[in-house]
Amino acid sequence: MEKKLEYLRKIQSDFIGLDTLYTRADGKKTRRIYLDSTASTLMMKAAHNAIEALYDHYANTHSLLHFSAKIATENYNWAHDRILSFVNADPDKYTCFFTGSGATTGINRLARVFRDYQKDRDVVLVSLMEHHSNDLPHRKHAGKVVHIPLDNHQGQPGCINMEVLEQELEAHKDRINYIAMTGVSNVTGIINPIYDIAELAHSYGALILVDGAQMAAHLPIKMSGHKNPDRNIDALVFSGHKTYVPGSPGAIICRKDILSSMEPEEVGGGMVDQVHVSRYTVTDVFPDREEAGTPNIPGAIGLATAIDVLDRIGMDIIFDEEINLINSALTKIKQLAGVVIYGETDCKICPRAASISFNVRGMDHGLVAAILNDYHNIAVRNECFCAHPYVKEMIIEELEYSREEIESIDIDANFKVKAGMVRASFGIYSTEKDVEALIYALKDIVARKTEYSLLYQLGNDGIYRHKSFTPDTSKVFNTESYISNYLAKL
Ligand code: ALA
Repeated sequence: MEKKLEYLRKIQSDFIGLDTLYTRADGKKTRRIYLDSTASTLMMKAAHNAIEALYDHYANTHSLLHFSAKIATENYNWAHDRILSFVNADPDKYTCFFTGSGATTGINRLARVFRDYQKDRDVVLVSLMEHHSNDLPHRKHAGKVVHIPLDNHQGQPGCINMEVLEQELEAHKDRINYIAMTGVSNVTGIINPIYDIAELAHSYGALILVDGAQMAAHLPIKMSGHKNPDRNIDALVFSGHKTYVPGSPGAIICRKDILSSMEPEEVGGGMVDQVHVSRYTVTDVFPDREEAGTPNIPGAIGLATAIDVLDRIGMDIIFDEEINLINSALTKIKQLAGVVIYGETDCKICPRAASISFNVRGMDHGLVAAILNDYHNIAVRNECFCAHPYVKEMIIEELEYSREEIESIDIDANFKVKAGMVRASFGIYSTEKDVEALIYALKDIVARKTEYSLLYQLGNDGIYRHKSFTPDTSKVFNTESYISNYLAKL
């Protein structure tokens, strides 16, 4: 335990980008406070350094015999195994493979796989809180999608409503192919009971696919090994760029028997035993058969390095630490008059990880996010976070439209300014000091609402711009200038 906490303390400050300085609208140069980890996390130095060290030995894993090819292959294989054990997936039953640059490619792929695996089942259940990447792929590839509403506690939505979920399972019975559910909402950070959902899904012969994009970096995952095997998860996808390794791929962990039952979705080099002009045979070997083409070798090894570090600390310890930070942020934001937090805020009713979304009453989300950046050097994301139905559900009263009208509204064209929230999101490197800076900034914004509003103008594109502070970010970093300077120094 001591050792683990020691690792945690050391790793928390061992990230690239924690000391980035920017000049604010008041002319002061201060440290950026990064509260946008749900969009993408910062880079763990251990992973960055491991990738850099690997480059001395870099080679394609499709080459076989030279030293570097062996080193690259051994470490690439290790990356798969490392991720399987991180999510507690039995390597005899599950495979891990890498794809795309986030979770989206993986979810699209699994939607097609599940569609073909249970061809006679054409209904998919998703929650109302899904990111578009765990909603649209099922609409496009898998059939009819039913959105399950959320529990409601005094007007605030919480986790998935299990009663309605069961009613929908009962109503569609044999037509349900699978339930696709986020483990953690990218908007509110609310955590869904995925193992209970798995048990329910399996009792109806349905599968479960978990969007783990916001889980992997934040809480322990147990895909298999449950006393009741019905609680095991059939497939899970997560993003490398949200797990402390920007530039790394997405990871899919899926039951091998599902994948073995059909030809892989993608074909090409590396996944075949024999190719003739008239036919080819796909290898039985996992994960090779699922990874056509040259993979993102450095990215995958970097991702597995970060995962290994997280595991050495212990995801239970990381989760406990984050819960404390989230609770502290929720408590402090709740005390601010004029700030509304979305989603159930009592973590005993509905636990949360990673994200808190809110609005300052009477101010557009874009204006608040701009002030946080320009005057407080706090990086947050605003708008609808690729989860339009969920965000609309939570701000429906503020929009002063009926549910039916909302459905017919072009949210981006007409309501970019009003329809949205501000999101503060946290990672392993986030500290109580960051939370205090956010609270200080929000108090300042609430107190100086009118004064700040007069300093900004709203563009036709729905973006708030400061009338006199126009920082030239290309002077801070610009790839072409970087190249020129680099070449000049050669
Ligand atoms: N999915 C990412 C987010 O929630 C980009 O911000």
